[in-house]
Amino acid sequence: MLLWREKIPDDWLPKVLGNLPAVLVDHAHLERKAATSALNLEKYRDLYGQVEALNAIAIEELQHFQLVLNLLKKRGIPFGQPVPSPWITGLMRSVRNGTRQQAIDHLLCCALVEGRSCEKFQVLANELKSIDAELAQFYGSLVESEGNHYATYLIMAREIDLAETEARLDFYLDYEAELIRQPNPLPMLH
Ligand SMILES: [Fe+2]
Ligand SMILES: [Fe+2]
Repeated sequence: MLLWREKIPDDWLPKVLGNLPAVLVDHAHLERKAATSALNLEKYRDLYGQVEALNAIAIEELQHFQLVLNLLKKRGIPFGQPVPSPWITGLMRSVRNGTRQQAIDHLLCCALVEGRSCEKFQVLANELKSIDAELAQFYGSLVESEGNHYATYLIMAREIDLAETEARLDFYLDYEAELIRQPNPLPMLH
């Protein structure tokens, strides 16, 4: 897994545990956006050869989306509006223009989102055990899949251009650390 340059802020966990219904709605949108991101990556020439691998990720993310929707239904939580994440918006804003550069940056942003999701789902799987066993089990069941998505995106970027990917990863890890330090009072995963 990645060597993050900033830990998850201390106020993240209490904020999330304090409003699980809102976090579940945010999570549903996160999985929906993960599915569309996988499909959007298919537009890059450098990724035409990866179209089936990207479809497989999109299908998995849609399945995750459906699982969260099932949980919402079971708990009587209405599906609602998406709230934009300043952290994700910030990452995506740094994607450079130029076909190859854009593909590498977009893959790295997706990898970071998947990597942080993997990390945060693991935290929730542990912390929710004594609070909400069903949810703890659910988050635990997603950890491996999001970790694989992180690794797949990073490998795809490295296959396009190893040196460029390493240089950009160095940039992105610093930038991500800066973004995650920005206060965000909203109950959301990222
Ligand atoms: Fe997912
Ligand atoms: Fe994922």
